[in-house]
Amino acid sequence: MLSFVRRGTRLQGKQLAAWERLSGHYLVDVPRASAATSVDPEARFDAASAFGRSAPLVVEIGSGLGDAVVAAAAAAPEQDFLALDVYRPGLSDLMRKADTAGAPNIRVIEANAPDVFATMLVPASVDEVWMFFPDPWPKKRHHKRRLVSPEFAALVARVLRPGGRWRLATDWEEYAEQMRETLDQVAEFSAANEGADGWSPRFERRIETGFERKGIAAGRVIRDLTYVRR
Ligand SMILES: C[S@@+](CC[C@H](N)C(=O)[O-])C[C@H]1O[C@@H](n2cnc3c(N)ncnc32)[C@H](O)[C@@H]1O
Repeated sequence: MLSFVRRGTRLQGKQLAAWERLSGHYLVDVPRASAATSVDPEARFDAASAFGRSAPLVVEIGSGLGDAVVAAAAAAPEQDFLALDVYRPGLSDLMRKADTAGAPNIRVIEANAPDVFATMLVPASVDEVWMFFPDPWPKKRHHKRRLVSPEFAALVARVLRPGGRWRLATDWEEYAEQMRETLDQVAEFSAANEGADGWSPRFERRIETGFERKGIAAGRVIRDLTYVRR
């Protein structure tokens, strides 16, 4: 079950120009299995060769328009950032913003995140996984499309190093509760939700994106969660 319905992939104008100019530096080539967002199970992400160095690695799932990861990467040049999304126009914007902000320490992968986590990322190679405002799929019949599940948690546990962190945020209260109930029961993680009512304090490196602003404007409460790989 996919967590997304793919929107357009055709780029035009500024987005096409940015893609052509910048993908040589930022975009990681992905051999596909079948679908356009799939990953050949034999493919591996070699961080040292992709970034040309060895540095702590943060993987962001669902970067959207890229604002959060670009701000974080510009503020932490000593770390490497891998952004995953299936939304090509968003990835193009991300690359343009990274270029403008002076954040060469980002790479992007256009693929379905569970495929990347299942086989492409090397076990215990990631320091942090970030997942901010994943699609909430509010209708009950769509809940099975939500990314956070015991099965996906096992894939995240596979790639995080011991002591590594999975940070999540959502403006959808009922999804926040589902995330917490699900992840509290995953043996590979210990909860580090030390703020009020068992949520995490706001992650200080997470900037406010348009998605968060919309949630706040609609009167929703933002929940952060943090889990540590045992
Ligand atoms: C609601 S947006 C949030 C974007 C961004 N994190 C923010 O806070 O502004 C969710 C993003 O997750 C992406 N997404 C959903 N399912 C995905 C999957 N299976 N693999 C990769 N990206 C996915 C969507 O394309 C979309 O860009």
